[in-house]
Amino acid sequence: MRVGVLTGGGDCPGLNAVIRAVVRKGEMHHRYELVGFADGWRGVIEGRTIPLDVERCRGILPRGGTILGTSRTNPYKVDGGVSACHDSLARHGVDALVAIGGEDTLGVAHKLFSEGVQVVGVPKTIDNDLSATEVTFGFHTAVQIATDAIDRLHTTAESHDRVIVCEVMGRHAGWIAAYAGIAGGAAEILVPEEPFDIEVVCQKLIQRHSKGRFASIVVVAEGARPREGSMVLSSGEVDQFGHERLGGIANVLAEEIERRTGFESRVTILGHVQRGGTPTAFDRVLATRFGVAAIDAVADGAFGQMVALKAGEIVRVPLGEAVTELKTLEPSLFHDVAAIFFG
Ligand code: F6P
Repeated sequence: MRVGVLTGGGDCPGLNAVIRAVVRKGEMHHRYELVGFADGWRGVIEGRTIPLDVERCRGILPRGGTILGTSRTNPYKVDGGVSACHDSLARHGVDALVAIGGEDTLGVAHKLFSEGVQVVGVPKTIDNDLSATEVTFGFHTAVQIATDAIDRLHTTAESHDRVIVCEVMGRHAGWIAAYAGIAGGAAEILVPEEPFDIEVVCQKLIQRHSKGRFASIVVVAEGARPREGSMVLSSGEVDQFGHERLGGIANVLAEEIERRTGFESRVTILGHVQRGGTPTAFDRVLATRFGVAAIDAVADGAFGQMVALKAGEIVRVPLGEAVTELKTLEPSLFHDVAAIFFG
């Protein structure tokens, strides 16, 4: 059996750990031949492959990014893209495919499965917004990076008695903001799930600073929105899956906070630093478990399925289920835990 592997969508710490696990168990245990496709679905369309074996995977476990490359290409939005995928898989003698990605990559996998492609999915995203799995690898690493940054922001903010608005990723889910904000002791956490009232935010900061010499870290998710209307600065660009490029709300927010409170404010937008570098031990282990489970699913002929984490166990769920609903932040985590420490 010849098994293709691809990574699609935004890169994410732990992708290489999945690839290594798929290859290791695929080659050594199941005696499969593995082949990588370069740059996600784009490489499948263009028939660009990368040799993949145990030797090639040596040393990649702690490395961020993906040795296969990635893209946000959607074959269903490319002229002739879908038939090119089918042709390319046939031409390269690929019997089964392991697709590692988020809702977009897995959405394509799901459609191709309904057209006869034997595919197994592995969930990936730093945003942690896939509903069929309790957690995705990459999330833990992004949270740790953001928390380390917030720790550093505290000392400089305190020295200058400033407000620092720290913007984190997460697209339309506030998981990274909530976790990093709780772990980093933020004075405010603004998430897409709970539109914020800028006046309330400012009043809390004024109250907090009135108690003496105080600094405040406000963590804002890139997709957070004020109640009275959108303040998100967007380039207006959308990718082939229709996603808007987010980012920049922290600039508007800091300006508004300074104007309304008189507190000197600064901005730190963490951006892609949250996606780069080495995965945490937790993410390496989760990614490895997913990789082993994915190639076992191939061996069992469990196509059209995605591996997922549920109650600590690795399970299989239908790909269709995996891509239907966005997993947004649990309200209780925000209201009953994070909010206790606001102001
Ligand atoms: O989905 C992962 C993610 O990092 C989001 O948090 C962010 O909005 C987006 O990707 C950024 O995408 P790009 O790397 O294409 O700018």
